[in-house]
Amino acid sequence: MRRPPKPGHSNGNGDAPAALENGDAPSPVTDNPGKRLTTGAKDAPADLVGWVDERMGATSFLTAMLMRKVPKGTNWFYTLGSATLFAFVVQAITGVFLAMYYTPSPVEAYASITHLTNDVFLGEFVRGMHKWGASVMVILVFVHMARTFFFGAYKYPRELNWVIGVVLLILTMVMGFTGYLLPFDQRSYWATIVGVNINGTGPIVGPYLSDFLRAGPEFGATTLSRFYAIHMLLVPGAIIAMIGAHLYLVVKMGTTAPPWMRADLKPKDARREPVEAIADGSANGASENGNAS
Ligand code: HEM
Repeated sequence: MRRPPKPGHSNGNGDAPAALENGDAPSPVTDNPGKRLTTGAKDAPADLVGWVDERMGATSFLTAMLMRKVPKGTNWFYTLGSATLFAFVVQAITGVFLAMYYTPSPVEAYASITHLTNDVFLGEFVRGMHKWGASVMVILVFVHMARTFFFGAYKYPRELNWVIGVVLLILTMVMGFTGYLLPFDQRSYWATIVGVNINGTGPIVGPYLSDFLRAGPEFGATTLSRFYAIHMLLVPGAIIAMIGAHLYLVVKMGTTAPPWMRADLKPKDARREPVEAIADGSANGASENGNAS
């Protein structure tokens, strides 16, 4: 089958250059003597994309990521993980704008947030998105977890991805907990004291954890800056790393077919699914367990 020309290698009439057809690397000098590689301003973006792609191999990565086989019967429930990812990205973007105006000091925190809400263009809107987005993300994480649980996606060989998911769940809750203190009003102050005290009652690590969170004998400036650092640096960094590992495993193993599709498998196919599929790279048994491409 004829392959479409790579971006950046268009010869203007839609055909791939002869050198490409032969498998040779195109040369701007020998293929187009006396001519520039670009055929016009119209091709400039495609050429730039091609130039970057040739050096990054992004197309092959994105093709493997976006064009991978998914099981037959895949439905809207499978979008919940991506929806959670979208909610996280919204939180990260709106959080950056909030951080431009927020001051993490007990005296100024509340005033900086009031200023953002009342005086800054779209400040109230962005703050609202971040505040409501936090609840949306927590809800989505739980619903996504329920989907993977009820579809049996936590079972062999995806246990590690489930464990990574549990870490993501905890980190999401930590985001909610640490973010709640930041406005530093009466409600957030007292609610956080209650939360930290509850943490302190936990076995073994509980008292150490509450000491760490309080960052001193009293709730005050050090507590607030510690919560702020955890909220905007430590945990988002950990979440990004964990999401990277989570998605790597999703792509490597493929998604689990719905239980009602797996029930249709012949015993041989069902046996084959996890072990050999991972070994030969066609994880989720894409070729044999009723998967569509
Ligand atoms: C920030 C939180 C999370 C994000 C962004 C996220 C993202 C994703 C995405 C995009 C997928 C692939 C599509 C899908 O199946 O929906 C996925 C799959 C999966 N997730 Fe998550 N996830 C998160 C949290 C969790 C949690 C809390 C758990 C469970 C404790 C979990 C367990 C799994 C499992 C087991 C799969 C594989 C599903 C399958 O094989 O069908 N994830 N996740």
